[in-house]
Amino acid sequence: MVDWPRLKLSRRGVLAGTTVTAVAVGAPAFTEASAPPAAQPVPTASVTFSVNGRERRLALDPRTTLLDALREHLHLTGTKKGCDHGQCGACTVIVQGKRINSCLSLAVMHEGHEITTIEGLGTPDRLHPMQAAFIRHDGYQCGYCTPGQICSAVAVLDEIARGIPSHVQDDLTASPRATAQEMRERMSGNICRCGAYSNIAEAMADVAGDNA
Ligand code: FES
Ligand code: FES
Repeated sequence: MVDWPRLKLSRRGVLAGTTVTAVAVGAPAFTEASAPPAAQPVPTASVTFSVNGRERRLALDPRTTLLDALREHLHLTGTKKGCDHGQCGACTVIVQGKRINSCLSLAVMHEGHEITTIEGLGTPDRLHPMQAAFIRHDGYQCGYCTPGQICSAVAVLDEIARGIPSHVQDDLTASPRATAQEMRERMSGNICRCGAYSNIAEAMADVAGDNA
């Protein structure tokens, strides 16, 4: 009877051996011709706008969204990135007096514009009435959607005061009023995963009442 030497094979040993063989005989040589092209520098565009009353000048990749310009370049992280696709409203800021989804807008489109973020509405010592109302009415839970909700809520009451109609108005020529139905319709682009909607509506009604 033949006494074969004992083979000691491990999974790692087999894999290492296979790799060495492939490199030695099978793999094509890595030549200069097959190397990826060298990365080109990204072109930049400059833009100047005012954020919360302060002039800011940036040199950006022209594809940078306003949201990323605020968060990544100016470090104003109060404005949140939720979906990055215009579906949640977490990135809402006020530009030239109107609310916009900053994830859907390129920063370079805002040359000379006045931009207000949650940081510019109030300060911890001097809260904006809407910020104070959100606290009074528990208008948030995790708080992620809250900066967008508050910017939107401030702009909504301004839209109503300026007579801008909405889809739920029976008479589009009449002046809109800050009813619960109006405010819910106008806030429908701001999603709250925690479901703080009824408290947000109460906070808005509180401020609208104060303004009435
Ligand atoms: S992050 Fe802009 S709408 Fe969701
Ligand atoms: S408070 Fe959590 S998502 Fe609105």
